[in-house]
Amino acid sequence: MLDNLGNLTRTHYCGNLNTEHIGQEVTVMGWVNKRRDLGGLIFIDLRDVKGILQVVIRPEKPEIFAKAEKVRNEYVIAVRGKICARTEPNINPNLPTGKIELEAEEFYILNDAQPLPVQFSEVAMAEEDLRLTYRYLDLRRPKLQKIIITRHRIMQIIREFLNNEGFYEIETPILMKSTPEGARDYLVPSRMQPGKFYALPQSPQMFKQLLMIAGLDRYYQIARCFRDEDLRADRQPEFTQLDIELSFVSQAQIFDLIERLFAKLFQEVLGYNLSIPFPVIPYAEAMEKYGCDKPDIRFEMKLFDISNIVKNSGFNVFSSALKNGGVVKAIAIPNAADFSRKQQDELVELAKHLGGKGIAFAKVTENGLEGGISKFLSPEEAEAIIQATQAQKNDLLAFAADNYEMVSKVLAGIRNFLAPQLNLIPENSFAFCWITDFPLFTKNLETGKWEPAHHMFTLPKEEHIPYLDIPEKIGEITGQLYDLVCNGVELSSGSIRCHRYDIQKKIFDILGFSEEELQKRFGFFLEALKYGTPPHGGIAPGLDRLVMIMTGAESIRDVIAFPKTLKATDLMSQAPSEVDEQQWKDLHLQPIK
Ligand code: AMO
Ligand code: AMP
Repeated sequence: MLDNLGNLTRTHYCGNLNTEHIGQEVTVMGWVNKRRDLGGLIFIDLRDVKGILQVVIRPEKPEIFAKAEKVRNEYVIAVRGKICARTEPNINPNLPTGKIELEAEEFYILNDAQPLPVQFSEVAMAEEDLRLTYRYLDLRRPKLQKIIITRHRIMQIIREFLNNEGFYEIETPILMKSTPEGARDYLVPSRMQPGKFYALPQSPQMFKQLLMIAGLDRYYQIARCFRDEDLRADRQPEFTQLDIELSFVSQAQIFDLIERLFAKLFQEVLGYNLSIPFPVIPYAEAMEKYGCDKPDIRFEMKLFDISNIVKNSGFNVFSSALKNGGVVKAIAIPNAADFSRKQQDELVELAKHLGGKGIAFAKVTENGLEGGISKFLSPEEAEAIIQATQAQKNDLLAFAADNYEMVSKVLAGIRNFLAPQLNLIPENSFAFCWITDFPLFTKNLETGKWEPAHHMFTLPKEEHIPYLDIPEKIGEITGQLYDLVCNGVELSSGSIRCHRYDIQKKIFDILGFSEEELQKRFGFFLEALKYGTPPHGGIAPGLDRLVMIMTGAESIRDVIAFPKTLKATDLMSQAPSEVDEQQWKDLHLQPIK
């Protein structure tokens, strides 16, 4: 028989009780984490959102003892009684409430529970699909609850900080016109307008700019974004951005704002002192030194260009790459001269997996370079390579020869692959950097067309604005674009926007939009630019990724209460799902036969 809650009122959370409460009468409510019957006594570990409290039920109270004997794991109970000190041998140092226990005087079973289909103890975790199917049970895991609660704190600190900086929190539509962030849209068919569709926002980009045109000056929103793209460990089809936009603002002011916000977050949530300002690395330098635009700068192992040194070398792989306009670069893998054949082969495989042709090696010894390709190098070349790469004795040099992009990709991949394996990454460290001066356009090698490197609403650097009129200079235009990277993860992107109609129009022209298409897709936005648009800019940190970094979560699914799988499904509710025939009809849709 289950008890009613009646007039019973919870006085305390289990996890909030401590030795100060000894002698007090309390009423607690929660889940039976574990029941133990010991020598005529029953002990129950009672769990609520704040923690666990031990409840003792004695046989001297036969009525409640009989009830306590019935409870099983995950039954929901309420207990009234007195907080007592545990005797010395019974103290549990592993439990925050380990010095006290609750002597039960009244005992209520509020609900029972069937045996769980998944165990949510950290030691015996079920496979992820099963946990996602029963997400509400998986979310009972204290580790996950801690992450979700940390996410809440992060959001509250963000709001408090931005409110104090004079920002307004403003919502923007979820049902909107398709906007161009570069991914595929999620579309919603309109019932009222046959054959027409809304798109879910990939980000509120155009709306936040329109709010600046409207004169609202400083906007933020903890905004849901939807992108139908291939998913990865740090990508969800629906995710959250801290979306920010400011009027009359410079890049330096945006950096300063975000640095102060992040310093506050890391201090308040983790007690960690971020060193600000963050280093600024121009895109070209990041590519040169790290081979990628989101470098993990917690460790060195930089890339060095040795093309000049080996341009006449006898190693055909190098000389032919250089002849074809490519480059040869090297990284010095610290203390890896004794890498086995197998370890080296693994790197070659990784290089091939990334699209490269291979990796060449040479060991650094007191005699210079030995093994691998050293036989193809003159002593002068070997010495110059050691100098150029700042390699130390016992390092293993890894070389890649190919076009610039491929060499960068391969060596960056190897760098990131090896760092954890070689313990090069200091524990509990957060290395932020701004990447700036991205090209405004990149050429799609397949179509030969220019595409926006980030998005099409970005202002070129002022001195590059004239290049918009010179076709051969398009590739050289630098945008006022920036990314914030932390520990090798792209955490935020932003830019100073194009506030002038004439410039925006030129950018659309370069991207090859026909007048008709332009009007159809962005007509309202271009029109808005004509009526006194203030200079403005913004940024959007990915909230899920920020929470991942701050909580050390390995998967983005661990920081979202109800996440989707890599196939964009919700295993719990079985979304997406089929709909009635009538719904198809209402939406004027037909399945393709
Ligand atoms: P961008 O597309 O770079 O910029 O997105 C900004 C940040 O959002 C996060 N992010 C994601 N997180 C999880 N899952 C995804 N699928 C996903 N996609 C992006 C990343 C990224 O850095 N409107 C611009 C911002 C601006 O210019 O102000 C934008 O959306 O952390
Ligand atoms: P091969 O002549 O193909 O047997 O290659 C000899 C060595 O050079 C092997 O260790 C390959 O992994 C390596 N190698 C091949 N192509 C490249 C390349 N483009 N850059 C660096 N090393 C390469």
